[in-house]
Amino acid sequence: MQERLQKILSRAGVTSRRSAETMITDGRISVNGQIVTELGTKADPDNDLIKVDGKPVVISKKRVYLLLNKPAGYVTTLADPGGRPVITELIKDIPERLFPVGRLDFNTEGLLLLTNDGDWANRLAHPSHEVEKEYLVKIRGSLGADRIAQLTNGIKLDDGWTAPAKVQIIRVLEKNVWFTITIHEGRYRQVRRMCEALELPLVKLKRVRYGNILLGELKSGEYRLLDPAEVKVLAGSGGGQGKTVTNKNAKNPEPAGRSDRKKSLQRKALHDK
Ligand code: URA
Repeated sequence: MQERLQKILSRAGVTSRRSAETMITDGRISVNGQIVTELGTKADPDNDLIKVDGKPVVISKKRVYLLLNKPAGYVTTLADPGGRPVITELIKDIPERLFPVGRLDFNTEGLLLLTNDGDWANRLAHPSHEVEKEYLVKIRGSLGADRIAQLTNGIKLDDGWTAPAKVQIIRVLEKNVWFTITIHEGRYRQVRRMCEALELPLVKLKRVRYGNILLGELKSGEYRLLDPAEVKVLAGSGGGQGKTVTNKNAKNPEPAGRSDRKKSLQRKALHDK
């Protein structure tokens, strides 16, 4: 994308925008070997070779890592030919172009990571990383021990057997059951298909954890930046459960203890109905 030279130079940390203008008029800047002295000149920081006093400018691209609580009814793409709402409409004040790490179905809610760091996203998505994803599920009817055993041990879907999963009952109501299921595969509509295979009518599906990162108390449609510890631990730890990171800056960080977490999910289940 073409941008004014002084903007590129200041963003690259070469100097302030004002003094970049002086550098340009002084003839100290070249673009693809041509000295530029006109102030309105534009260049493409990704494709043009910009030099100051003959030395190439290193454009440091800011990396952004963000956690969105995706509402149901949004598509996890950057644009939808069908005109449905897309997740990027929810990200208001971040100028960088972000893309989602994996996806959540149109009607699935919860924790979705977005970034402009392709290496980081690839590392997380790689099957060898086996990042755990935990979903809060609401079904109609009951969930017997036989079904729990099937979910836990593996189910034959049309693309093969699912790997072992962890299941925890969160709340049993007269007409519904809430439970969490933790998987590390990322197959298309996996949890929905597992429930369909067992004839469990799924009412609600919400991702509440990705590796060590908890959704916490972030409201639907809201987002926050990951802090550097979260970015590092996700990319480096193999993404399994390990030590759960809570964001110290968040207003209501979710407690990391197991029974506290269960209580917190029960509150969510009650709150969500
Ligand atoms: N499993 C599903 O079925 N859907 C999602 O969006 C995520 C996991």
